[in-house]
Amino acid sequence: MAIKRIGVLTGGGDCPGLNPTIRAIVRKALKENIPVTGIRNGWKGLIEKDTVRLDLNSVSGILPKGGTILGTSRTNPYKEKGDLEKTKKNLSALKLDALIAIGGDDTLGAASKLFKEGLKIVGVPKTIDNDLSCTDFTFGFDTAVNIATEAIDRLHTTAESHHRIMVVEIMGRHAGWIATYAGLAGGADILLIPEIPIDMNEVCDIIKTRHERGKDFSIVVVAEGAKLKDRELVLKTEKKDAFGNVLLGGIGHTIGKELGERTGFETRVTVLGHIQRGGTPTAFDRVLATRFGVRAVELVLNGEFGQMVALKGNEIVSVPLEAAVGTLKTVDMRLYEIAKIFFG
Ligand code: F6P
Repeated sequence: MAIKRIGVLTGGGDCPGLNPTIRAIVRKALKENIPVTGIRNGWKGLIEKDTVRLDLNSVSGILPKGGTILGTSRTNPYKEKGDLEKTKKNLSALKLDALIAIGGDDTLGAASKLFKEGLKIVGVPKTIDNDLSCTDFTFGFDTAVNIATEAIDRLHTTAESHHRIMVVEIMGRHAGWIATYAGLAGGADILLIPEIPIDMNEVCDIIKTRHERGKDFSIVVVAEGAKLKDRELVLKTEKKDAFGNVLLGGIGHTIGKELGERTGFETRVTVLGHIQRGGTPTAFDRVLATRFGVRAVELVLNGEFGQMVALKGNEIVSVPLEAAVGTLKTVDMRLYEIAKIFFG
């Protein structure tokens, strides 16, 4: 069947690189004389039939802009009764022959299910967390790593002046990718990630040994999803989002308090939070997002639905959506072993 109109949506947490992807999809589709409809606020926009026409003007100047011009939400079309039917009905009422869903595990998980129900969908992976399977990198990650690295560099100078321990809490959900890359790039003295339960005795020993060798300041990088051995995950709230995700945050303060008390060294805590998700994408993320967007349109034109674009090495490939979702991509332990060489 010839594709006469494509829809595009961005779902889940925003990240730098979404706008370059939207721009690439629109520019490539228009080159093929296929109009594009933007769906506002992820799956919510499809449920509510909230759309916007995307033309050359609407994507002009958005390449360096963070966030998403389409807006986003964490609405799950499978959660509320009746939403699934509305999603399907509106897709055909809007005369969308194909849909490109740009999202992380939750948005693409829904896309994968909808594809199995007969909808013509292609996925584009995005997340600062870099925790999506079947792709080496997602856009947004490189930008977040650069922001976190700059923050660690800045914490270094003040830590050194005041002879303090600086604990920095970094996003990434249940995977320690941002923390590991930023920790390596920023020269963290200890790196605590969700993949390895934290032993506070070990952490205190490393810091004490470091101070004994004359270094009277330390940088402790902790991923928000890191967990102390034999203790519960630290959460911001008991509430969960529509996809059942917990809201992480607070482990930095737990670690900072305990470290300060047990080592006797003055300690301060910085939580980087959403700063890691905002602002302009790096050149790497702009290029990756652009390549993903163009390939997503090509998949639509070739009728390769149920696929997600992905990066393997330096090649843009496509993988089944089903294979990409549901399995967390955790940190490569070979990388963590390298970071460990610099502990203490
Ligand atoms: O998935 C991206 C992410 O920024 C995570 O790193 C973080 O745990 C979460 O989203 C924060 O979610 P929210 O934007 O709902 O506070």
